[in-house]
Amino acid sequence: MKTFTNPSVAIVGATGAVGTTMLSILEERGFPASDVRLMASSRSAGRVIDTKWGGVEVEDLESANPSGIDIALFSAGGARSREYAPRFVSAGTTVIDNSSAFRMDDTVPLVVAQVNDDAIRTHEGIVANPNCTTMVAMMAAGPLHQAAGLRTLFATSYQSVSGSGQTGITQLAAEIDHFGSDRESLVTGNWVEPDGELYARPIGYNVLPLAGSVAEAGYTDEEWKLVHESRKILERDDIAVEPTCVRVPVMVGHGISASMWFDRRVDLDEAVAVLGSAPGMQLWDDTKVPTPLDSAGIDDILVGRLRETIGFPGGISLFAIGDNLRKGAALNAVQLAELLLE
Ligand SMILES: NC(=O)c1ccc[n+]([C@@H]2O[C@H](COP(=O)([O-])OP(=O)(O)OC[C@H]3O[C@@H](n4cnc5c(N)ncnc54)[C@H](OP(=O)(O)O)[C@@H]3O)[C@@H](O)[C@H]2O)c1
Repeated sequence: MKTFTNPSVAIVGATGAVGTTMLSILEERGFPASDVRLMASSRSAGRVIDTKWGGVEVEDLESANPSGIDIALFSAGGARSREYAPRFVSAGTTVIDNSSAFRMDDTVPLVVAQVNDDAIRTHEGIVANPNCTTMVAMMAAGPLHQAAGLRTLFATSYQSVSGSGQTGITQLAAEIDHFGSDRESLVTGNWVEPDGELYARPIGYNVLPLAGSVAEAGYTDEEWKLVHESRKILERDDIAVEPTCVRVPVMVGHGISASMWFDRRVDLDEAVAVLGSAPGMQLWDDTKVPTPLDSAGIDDILVGRLRETIGFPGGISLFAIGDNLRKGAALNAVQLAELLLE
C-alpha cells in the first residue's frame, strides 16, 4: 500500500454537505496535507473557499488535472465517481470514494475505520466508504461480531434528511415553515401539500417508511446496501440481515434500532463490556438516551437502549445513532486517509 507523509489532497464535491464537512474535519484533525484542492461542478467553479491552506478556488471537475494529487476524497455522487475516479487513479492518486459506485467491487476494500482497518491494505487505487446507515450499524455490530460472530441482524433505520445532501436540509426547513404556519391542519388533517419533490411524501412533521428507491423484492436500494455492505465489511456472507429504512424529519443523525443474534448467546454484561471499550463510540445507559440532536456535530457513535432480546432470547437489542455527515461519511473518509499516512 502506497503511504504518504504530507500528501497533496483533493476534495471532489467540495461544496456539498459531505464535502464541506470533509474540509472542516481535515482542518480540525490537523491532517498533514501539503495543499488542498477543491473540485465541484461548473456551477461552483471559480468560488474561493477559505481554508487552513489559504483561499482555494473551486475547480470544475470536468477540466481539473489530477496529476500531483496524492489522495482524493470523492463525494460528488456515483456517476462522477464512476467517470472520474479511474482517471485520478491512472494519474497516481489514491481515491477514497464516498459514493456507492465501487463498494461491492471485489477489488475495492469497503472500510469502516476502527472496525476493519486492515482491509484497506488490499486496495488497488480505490477505497470505498460504506453507506452512512451501514456505517452507524457496523460501529455497534462490528465489535460484537468480533467477540461472538454475528449471524442475524434485524435493523430499522431512522435516517435524517441530510443523508440526501443540502437539498434534504433545505426541503425539511421549508416544510417545517410551511406546516408550522398552520399547525391546526396537522391535527385536523386538512393540511396543504408543500412544494418540492425530493421525497414521495412530505417529510416535515412526518415519517416516511421508505428511504431510497424501491429495488429488488420490494426492498429499497438503501435496505440492500445494509444487507450487502454489512456482509462485506464483517467478512461473512451468510449473515441474515432484515432491513427497513425509514426517513425521519431530523436534520442530522442516522439512527439504527437493531436486534442481533450471534454464534452463541451474548448476555447484557458481555455486550456492555464489548461496546463499553469499543473505539469511536459512547455507550449510554437509559438515564441518558442517545438522540439525533446529541449526535449532531460529534465524531462518536452513541449507543443506548442496550437489552437482552425477549422475543427470540440469546441476542442483544440496541439503538445506535451517529452524525451521518461526520462518521457516516466525511469523518470516516478522513480516517481512511489517515490510514494512508506513513
Ligand atoms: N449526505 C450524507 O449523509 C452522505 C453519506 C454518505 C455518502 N453520501 C454520498 O456522498 C455524495 C455527496 O453527497 P452530499 O450529501 O454531500 O450531496 P450534495 O450536498 O448534494 O453535494 C453534491 C456535491 O457534488 C457536486 N457535484 C454534483 N454534480 C457534479 C458534477 N456534475 N460535477 C462535479 N461535481 C458535481 C456538487 O457540486 P455543486 O455544488 O457545484 O453542484 C456538490 O459539491 C453522494 O454520493 C452521496 O450518496 C452522502
